[in-house]
Amino acid sequence: MRHSMPIVTPRLILRPPTLDDLDSIQAAKEEAWPDLQRWMTWAFDNQWSRQAMEDSIRRVMDYQNQVGIALAGFHRINGDFVVRTALDSTDQQDVYETGYWVAPQYAGQGMATEAVNAAIRYAFGHLGARAISIGYFDGNEASRRIVEKLGFEKLRVAHKAATRCLDGAKLDRHEYILTSPDALPELDVLWG
Ligand SMILES: CC(C)(COP(=O)(O)OP(=O)(O)OC[C@H]1O[C@@H](n2cnc3c(N)ncnc32)[C@H](O)[C@@H]1OP(=O)(O)O)[C@@H](O)C(=O)NCCC(=O)NCCS
Repeated sequence: MRHSMPIVTPRLILRPPTLDDLDSIQAAKEEAWPDLQRWMTWAFDNQWSRQAMEDSIRRVMDYQNQVGIALAGFHRINGDFVVRTALDSTDQQDVYETGYWVAPQYAGQGMATEAVNAAIRYAFGHLGARAISIGYFDGNEASRRIVEKLGFEKLRVAHKAATRCLDGAKLDRHEYILTSPDALPELDVLWG
């Protein structure tokens, strides 16, 4: 077995989503939709529907046979859906790309930072990652702050490299890399 789930942090349980999670994740997605269309690479109009969410969950359910992993984070106390993140494989072996979005009712509580910190620790500690990459669109100050808090190193600004789903605007993409978990803020994380 390649993956060792779930990943447990002080406040979250992270694991690949299942169809049982469809309603709660879809509800949060609808609530977050304006921000998702502004800042996420995948949030085109055709991704709004419940069917699109179901399709996206079906694509990642067979995670033991996939290199990367999609993660949904649930509140350890009340079970609420809180955050999505992922470790996506890239064209470079053992380099994963991450991204994240938070259910609006849990925004501003450090949940994205906690979830991504845990996913990155899992990538280095269990998957044998040699680097994690992340990019955010120019103007996404909350995401910039998360990237900085996690200790990523800036690689470049890719000018007009991103297309905003909301309106097709071309935006600069700020690209970062992390090559070791050492710079991450301290966090108790277990998996398996
Ligand atoms: C970006 C997002 C994931 C943040 O989630 P979150 O759980 O609220 O994030 P955290 O609380 O872990 O950290 C956010 C940090 O940004 C800061 N922040 C929030 N809004 C900010 C703003 N407008 N300007 C500057 N900093 C801001 C917060 O204060 C916090 O930093 P701090 O811990 O030093 O106070 C969430 O707003 C979201 O889902 N946005 C839409 C999708 C998205 O943008 N995803 C990222 C794509 S790269």
